[in-house]
Amino acid sequence: MAEFSLTRTTHPTSPAVRQAALADPGFGRHYVDHMVVIDYVEGDGWQDPRILPMSDWSLHPAAAVLHYGQEIFEGLKAYRRDDDSIWLFRPDRNAARFVNSARRLGMAELPEDLFVEAVERIVALERDWVPAGENEQSLYIRPFMIASEALLGVREAKSYRFSVICTPVGPYYSEPVKLWITPNYTRAAIGGTGEAKCGGNYAASLVATEEAYANGCGQVLWTDGAEHKWVEECGTMNVMFVTADGELLTPSLGSILPGVTRDSILKLADAHGLKAVERPISVDEVLDGVESGQIAEVFACGTAAVVTPIVGFNSPQRGVAVVGDGQPGPKTEEIRRHLVDIQFGRAEDTFGWTR
Ligand code: COI
Repeated sequence: MAEFSLTRTTHPTSPAVRQAALADPGFGRHYVDHMVVIDYVEGDGWQDPRILPMSDWSLHPAAAVLHYGQEIFEGLKAYRRDDDSIWLFRPDRNAARFVNSARRLGMAELPEDLFVEAVERIVALERDWVPAGENEQSLYIRPFMIASEALLGVREAKSYRFSVICTPVGPYYSEPVKLWITPNYTRAAIGGTGEAKCGGNYAASLVATEEAYANGCGQVLWTDGAEHKWVEECGTMNVMFVTADGELLTPSLGSILPGVTRDSILKLADAHGLKAVERPISVDEVLDGVESGQIAEVFACGTAAVVTPIVGFNSPQRGVAVVGDGQPGPKTEEIRRHLVDIQFGRAEDTFGWTR
């Protein structure tokens, strides 16, 4: 256990204001009263783990993160169960992915147990901010790290700041989503940063998302960087296909985010009579399958989005394609329910994922 110091805010949110925030949390609209901060300096290592009142930071204008984008983050949630206990879901997986992201971005590696401890401490302190589980609300936890060294030369920075902030959230998507298959943009390429959870991947996605909106869709279906032929992921989520033959298909890892929700759902597939298959999937296979009925259901998954039904596609080559009858499918709903029930303690956690 690391020694964390605690400086309490002198202006805690009143219970009435917090209750109003929890009644209509949105996503990232309200923040808890405290944050974790841990700094790293090359040679000295990680130092001074502390919990501080939530506040602005001061940063040198030459801080490397502001110029060369050395930034990584994670997303996980805390769930309040009916007995009022608070639970995390697989935080060790986020900690491990954070180390991998740090390696890819040439950043300092935060020990996995320190990551988990930081998350547990802030959630314990801010437990009143964890919504009651109605409408699947939860506390979204955002650990992140920036390069803080003032540095205009391009090299790996020598100082970093790790922080954890939290925000109560409701569902990220309130409705099923249609996907735009963009011919103009890609998210990642083999050898790039697709497997890392770094801010730059999300910055580069924004213009394509605007293109999706302009084409009547809520998100982008990302395809490979070389040929625009292979399906990668969608929006900020992994994508899955339920086939008429009882497979749960998803693209193999390589240039996509290794999602914790993706991994969990692949492990739950069996319980829903589906065979989990990870392999390359072409756009043509998807659109032909949707047309013929071979692909019966499509959904996206991620921590924020949980399981979001995909009900259609649009593309310049093939126009609009509707999945099934354009409504969320039964397996999508079953799998979503199973996952959420494990998180909220209503279904048996046979994998030991919750703590
Ligand atoms: C998450 O699902 O935790 C994400 O990182 C998505 C986020 C960009 C909203």
